[in-house]
Amino acid sequence: MDKLIIHGGKRLSGEVAVSGAKNAALPLLFATLLSPGPHRLANLPRLRDITTAERLLAGLGAEVDSSNGTLKIATEQINSMEAPYELVRTMRASVLVLGPLLARYGKARVSLPGGCAIGARPINLHLKGLEAMGAEIHLENGYVEASAARLEGARIHFDVPTVGGTENLMMAATLARGTTILENAAREPEIIDLAKALQGMGASIEGAGTDTIMIEGVDDLSPMDYQVMPDRIEAGTFLVAAAMTGGRVGVKGACAEHMEALLSKLEEAGATVAASPETLWVEGPQEIQSVNIKTQPHPGFPTDMQAQFMAMMTLGNGTSMITEAVFENRFMHVSELQRMGADISIEGHTAAVKGVSALHGAPVMATDLRASACLVLAGLAADKTTEISRIYHLDRGYENLEEKFRSLGADIERVPEQK
Ligand code: UD1
Repeated sequence: MDKLIIHGGKRLSGEVAVSGAKNAALPLLFATLLSPGPHRLANLPRLRDITTAERLLAGLGAEVDSSNGTLKIATEQINSMEAPYELVRTMRASVLVLGPLLARYGKARVSLPGGCAIGARPINLHLKGLEAMGAEIHLENGYVEASAARLEGARIHFDVPTVGGTENLMMAATLARGTTILENAAREPEIIDLAKALQGMGASIEGAGTDTIMIEGVDDLSPMDYQVMPDRIEAGTFLVAAAMTGGRVGVKGACAEHMEALLSKLEEAGATVAASPETLWVEGPQEIQSVNIKTQPHPGFPTDMQAQFMAMMTLGNGTSMITEAVFENRFMHVSELQRMGADISIEGHTAAVKGVSALHGAPVMATDLRASACLVLAGLAADKTTEISRIYHLDRGYENLEEKFRSLGADIERVPEQK
């Protein structure tokens, strides 16, 4: 297992290119199950989660061929309907095969994901929606077994806006008989990206990006030819790194429109934000202002940026109240930040982060994807040396992270961890 060694205290400066969005790419990959193809997906990030999705598709019988960030997929020969435990366990988004397999083949067997580091994360709303569309669903030996002759359009109201649930049902509804209306749907930019790709395949979808999405089922879909949107969380991670090291960084290809909540909080914290059509720039303040955040479904502040923003707030000039309202257990980075000298106390879903004058390098351990990113940022701003172990979490979601940071002047290297 590799670890990262960071000699902190360098101001970041320069430009870095954003990669394709992991969370948009995954549903797009699974949407290729809706038509035989051949499909073409460009701007895919090279990440472990993407490789896992490719393995899952290959296991179902798809032909997957990738080169230079463009993937060609043919799903003519699908001969398995199963997403096995080994894959779902390592990547929860594997449950997104459920909707497409059911819609095109009338059958799917998908392992239940179980808990994960940031909470219970059930898929009950995915299943409830598919049942409303006429699917029969049984849980057996840890697997969801679903079948339907042909899915029927339905009106589905989500109890809470779920990104994966909205995506699963939107994909399922494209081939259902009749009209499906998804109410209280998630509004994340990745949902719009998926809707655009599906529309390009001939699906009839209205309202993606609002809380009500209407899908008129069609009999078949044509191949997908699509370019994945930029990764707003990766871009946000670089911008927060710039702000907290007092540097100036431009993220080429980032889309400011997808990141309004984060950008306005960065400005409140004293950073300067400037957007040109190609590049989004952030310049760090002299003194970081402590600001409060509460994570919310889009367009609110993204839970996937909470840990990174907290890293910055550890160096604020006052106290920042950070409330996590999307996942119940997403403060695991706190104890690691404390080991670096941060002053944080947690009560329920809120962390009170009292700014300190400096963070100090220490050995720390990554616990999940965004917590890992938070520790990298803390290490970049800290004095002395930070060693981050278990960075396989980072490799799930960041492409060439350390190379990109090095190109901005960071002193960061990956070394094999001794057994
Ligand atoms: C997606 C993102 C993840 C991000 C999250 C919230 C991908 C691959 N992952 O995860 O990075 O942190 O959105 O922005 O896109 N819930 C239920 N029942 C369900 C489904 C969800 O109660 O059936 C709850 C969850 O426990 C959570 C909330 O709804 O509290 C939001 O979860 P959801 O939007 O579904 O997250 P994911 O799609 O898993």
